[in-house]
Amino acid sequence: MWKKSARTHQSPACSEDRQHEHSRKKVIKCKAAVLWEPHKPFTIEDIEVAPPKAHEVRIKMVATGVCRSDDHAVSGTLITPLPAVLGHEGAGIVESIGEGVTCVKPACGKCRICKHPESNFCCQNDLVKPRGTLRDGTSRFSCKGKPIHNFIGTSTFSQYTVVEDIAVVKIDEASPLDKVCLIGCGFSTGFGSAIKVAKVTPGSTCVVFGLGGVGLSVIIGCKVAGASRIIAVDINKDKFAKAKELGATECINPKDYSKPIHQVLQEMTDGGADFSFEVIGRLDTMTSALLSCHESCGVSVIVGVPPNAESLSVHPMLLLLGRTWKGAIFGDQLLGFKSKDSIPKLVADFMAKKFPLDPLITHVLPFEKINEAFDLLRAGKSIRTVLTF
Ligand code: APR
Ligand code: ZN
Repeated sequence: MWKKSARTHQSPACSEDRQHEHSRKKVIKCKAAVLWEPHKPFTIEDIEVAPPKAHEVRIKMVATGVCRSDDHAVSGTLITPLPAVLGHEGAGIVESIGEGVTCVKPACGKCRICKHPESNFCCQNDLVKPRGTLRDGTSRFSCKGKPIHNFIGTSTFSQYTVVEDIAVVKIDEASPLDKVCLIGCGFSTGFGSAIKVAKVTPGSTCVVFGLGGVGLSVIIGCKVAGASRIIAVDINKDKFAKAKELGATECINPKDYSKPIHQVLQEMTDGGADFSFEVIGRLDTMTSALLSCHESCGVSVIVGVPPNAESLSVHPMLLLLGRTWKGAIFGDQLLGFKSKDSIPKLVADFMAKKFPLDPLITHVLPFEKINEAFDLLRAGKSIRTVLTF
């Protein structure tokens, strides 16, 4: 399920030459950003990356996005074993493969969820109860003699990483990896929430709460789906220009109104929008988004990751008249896409200019400046920073 996009120059299955045999057995020494403890900066360390075992693929990383979920792992909102190499929105080139890798194949394809037509949260994921390892219970990383954990089966903040074949998709060789890496998480989360989870219809009215990289990707999805009105909501008006550039027809700031924002939106939309999205991760805005969609035909989707251990309470009447309330689990992670088909197709659609990614990339930094990238994210100054290797 983890869309670690990997580009191969040739199908690994056909490259059983001696050189390959040789390289697959070597330990690689390289640089990686290691997070030793929560709330601390990353340190760039010399690490060893063991060769891929059976059904694993070693990848030379080319580019990786810095995502809010990585920061959730630093802050402890997402509890994952440390020390670890974080990062999960990467694109690279296959360096070597372990035994039994017949092709680069995404998602296990075997579990109940992979077989389900509407779902994508492969049961083999390492997000819900993270082990911080590959499926055999070990990681291929070590530093100063200590094993270093994986992060959600990907660990892209490293010059080389080892992932399982089920965590890789093969994409168009000609695609710019420093852009399409966003299809590995942030873009697809937002876009998928509009297209696949809400199933936005042509001519509809949509409301999007939160105009970060994910919210903007929701707007791109609403536009591609043919929505005729897209109302963008944010308390930071500096976000409005980009939202309009990407398809928002109106932008509103809750701070400009004395009444609750859902009332404003109900009045603007003849009783409520067809679709609403919460892309912030706050309980109050999840309720506002719910109330902003129409009470009998509206669909509201939670995309933002809520604070740990907090619950929402709503009156059942809010749903009884016919509203639909959905979630795309862990915002970033349930993409509403089957990676096997969707990721290469999204890359093809990007190459065919069916949607843009450039407006989402506000900063490009060398990998060594990873802490700067996180500072920009935390200060709300970046949409997405792409780190290049
Ligand atoms: N009302 C409206 N907008 C708000 C509010 C609020 N009360 N609080 C914050 N915002 C806006 C911020 O100004 C910002 O523009 O929400 C936006 C959130 O954007 P980012 O922090 O950049 O988050 P993003 O990366 O887009 O992710 C949003 O989805 O995938 C999850 O983990 C992710 O929970 C996060 C959410
Ligand atoms: Zn992510």
